Amino acid sequence: MTDGTLPATIGSAAERVSLDTFTRRLVRLDRGAESILEDAKTFPETPMIQLAAAAFCLLGQTAPADAAGRGFLDAAAPLLAGATEREHRWEALLRRWLAHDHLGALEAAEALTARWPTDLLAAKIAEFFYYVLGQEHEAPRFRAHMDRLVPANPDDADLLAMAAFAEELCGDLPAAQASVERALAIDPDQPWAHHCVAHIHLRRGETETGIAALEGFLPSWIASGRFAHCHNTWHLALAHLDRLDHDRALALFRRHVWGIAPDLVFEQVDAIALLWRLELAGAAVDALWPEIASRVAVHLGSHYMPFLDAHFVYALARAGQADTVAAWRAAVARRAAEGDPEAHRTWVGFGRPLVDAVAAFAVGDASRAAALLEPIMPMATIGGGSDAQVDLFRQTYFHALVQSGSKADARAYWAELLGGRPRTELDLWRAGLAA
Ligand SMILES: [Fe+2]
Repeated sequence: MTDGTLPATIGSAAERVSLDTFTRRLVRLDRGAESILEDAKTFPETPMIQLAAAAFCLLGQTAPADAAGRGFLDAAAPLLAGATEREHRWEALLRRWLAHDHLGALEAAEALTARWPTDLLAAKIAEFFYYVLGQEHEAPRFRAHMDRLVPANPDDADLLAMAAFAEELCGDLPAAQASVERALAIDPDQPWAHHCVAHIHLRRGETETGIAALEGFLPSWIASGRFAHCHNTWHLALAHLDRLDHDRALALFRRHVWGIAPDLVFEQVDAIALLWRLELAGAAVDALWPEIASRVAVHLGSHYMPFLDAHFVYALARAGQADTVAAWRAAVARRAAEGDPEAHRTWVGFGRPLVDAVAAFAVGDASRAAALLEPIMPMATIGGGSDAQVDLFRQTYFHALVQSGSKADARAYWAELLGGRPRTELDLWRAGLAA
């Protein structure tokens, strides 16, 4: 898993244990990666431990998390005078990440693994940047990166699970299946391999076998970190939703998805996406919005990626917080006008109209939502999230078309999207709306 030969300015075996433990836990999505925050206090003179603590914080995707990350980066700065090239590269990567230059940070992460192919912390962080930049949009790049690393880490189940996910995102399901099976042969409880199983079944439209597999995996996710536990259960809930089993989806929402670490952005997004999909499937979940909205309102002014903002704005609008939604839309307009490469790539032509469309749809203005979404749906994968997550925007566009009376357009759009995939019960129910 970790490689003791990776260069770092380390004075003791205990420091190596700290870094190896953190890396193993983060890359496997285990509980306990936050141990690096305590270790940063134990070893204030070790630059790579300070840098690793900064990386852990920056995964939080909030202003307070960025501030904490900046603190660790500043603590590392005076320690770097005699540090290794690897530590200097990590520092440069983290500075770009802190500035939300995800394109530049990804280049830095890929350069790190090109130089040190066993630096799986850099590989896992790169996977996060593909997510921020749109995992399906970036899938060929993600896959090429993983293909480069597998030969150097041939028996690493955590890397194989990442490689499998990249293959799934590219639509190469036989390759993804083979990589998942290799990962699970090494580590049957690898949660990210379970996650790829969920994606494969979803893409194939195999609801029953998907549910059977994921329900079998579910007990093991209790031992995983909060992100894997939440997100994998989110996938299981989607599979139940595909069978129109709202009760099981809501039971999973209440026990495993929402309310355990409600200030964690990953948990907020999965919770919102599940309730949003439940509403699209005809369920009434009005009473659940105010609590979620109260947790996400603090992200106004952050604007990490359009994928997040669309979810936050939907929750706020469904909770009736019109003033906050108006302020959010204005802030997104300002973000789009900032002129940096990510503003041009992600916010001007996609993020801003997406957020405006979601705000309209959430309060029943389906015509405006459909008009705003129509030109941007071909680029739906560019604003962050995975293939499965971005599908929510496609579903929303379908429902906006139906609700605004454009049923023929809705039918044509959905038929093209589904292609030859077997229809789920939810697909058939949805088709009935557009009949
Ligand atoms: Fe997923």
